[in-house]
This record gives sequence, C-alpha cells and structure tokens, in this order.
Amino acid sequence: MIRICQSILNANFDDLPNEIAKVAKYADLLHLDIMDGKFVPNTTFNPQSARSIVENSPLPVDLHLMISEADRMVLPYTKMNAASISVHLEALSDPRATLRLIRDSGKRAALAIKPGTPIESVEPYLQDLDMILVMTVEPGFGGQRFISEMMPKVSLARKWLTQNGLNEKWIQVDGGINETTIREAFLAGADTFVAGSVVYKSSDPGGMVAKLRSCATGE
Ligand code: DX5
Ligand code: ZN
Repeated sequence: MIRICQSILNANFDDLPNEIAKVAKYADLLHLDIMDGKFVPNTTFNPQSARSIVENSPLPVDLHLMISEADRMVLPYTKMNAASISVHLEALSDPRATLRLIRDSGKRAALAIKPGTPIESVEPYLQDLDMILVMTVEPGFGGQRFISEMMPKVSLARKWLTQNGLNEKWIQVDGGINETTIREAFLAGADTFVAGSVVYKSSDPGGMVAKLRSCATGE
C-alpha cells in the first residue's frame, strides 16, 4: 500500500480550487508546503491562508512546515483540520514535545530531515513519530533534481522500522519525484511519495498521479 501526496507548490496559485480538483480523485493526500522565508529562502502560506486551503480541500491535508522555531510556530497549525504535520528536526529544540503536541491535536506527527542531516538523528524518536520525511532535495523550491544519495537513509529507516515491528509508520520522500525516481525510492523502502511539478507540468495531471503509482510498485 503506497500513498501519493500531491504538492501544490508548483500549481497555479491563482486558481487553486481548480488545480486541486484536477488531482482530487487520484492523489491520497494534498501536500501543503509552508515556508517562512527564514528556514528556507522562500515564502508560501501563512496560517490564515493554510487554514482556508485545509478547510476547503477535498483531500486530507499533509502539512509540511519548513519554518524556524517550529516548537512554537507549529501551534496555529495544530488547530487546523489537517491529517498530518511534518516538522523539521533542524528547526526543533524539543522534538519529542512537539511531536506529542501534534499527536495530541489528533494528527499524525512526522519528523523531516534536510539532505545534510543524518538519518541517525531521527532514530531516538521512532516511537514518537508516525512518519519519517526524508527530503530528496534541499527544501525551498519545486522542480529540483532528486538526490539519489538519500536512498541509504530511506533503507536504514525501513530497516529500523522492520526490526522494531514499527512498519505501520510511514516513510515519505519529498523532492524530484518522477516516473523513474519514484521506483528508486519505493525499492529503497519509501511508501509515501510527494509529487509536485511532474504532475502539474503534465497535460493530464490526474493520469500522471495514477502513472506514478504504478511506476512505484511496478504493477
Ligand atoms: C520542496 C517541497 C516539495 C516540493 C516538491 O521544498 O517540500 O514538496 O513541492 O516539488 P517537486 O516534486 O517539483 O520536487
Ligand atoms: Zn514538501
């Protein structure tokens, strides 16, 4: 069982309802990238605009917070009706407490790491999280090249989950996913895939999501 999370970062922001409608029947989750211009050199949604997307989304929403001081700044997001919230380990001073806060708000809690952060830094929190997000590009922008060198992180995370009987937890990859790289990430052990520009560049976005799903599993 795999999941495709549609990122709308490279969708047409002037017509989001229609852009989201194009993929609503095909994707499993809507992946919303929140950037504050500090943790990453780009700014997207603030809590108010994120809330309006969450409230109107036909798909459950996966919030990816690329924001500094995430322990504190996560608060308004815990009050929205999202399905999950990912916070970056690099932006946390107390990962365990913040993951607990997210879970207590009824959402799945995910710990994300940038390409330069070793996967070993996630290991102490395996019991506290519902998903590990291994970034396969430097966070900040869509349309970048997939960093294959991140695949050993995915494999090691999968090994830990299997060894500890924790395979109900998800491993997500985000950045540079296309028909080829999704297979690579699947074979490394990922089960949850963020797809952004590859879908919106396609003349048939819904069909592309379906295609990615079959490319991943080889079915
Ligand atoms: C990048 C974002 C991604 C981005 C992926 O910082 O976190 O979710 O939208 O876009 P693509 O699939 O184009 O790399
Ligand atoms: Zn993202």
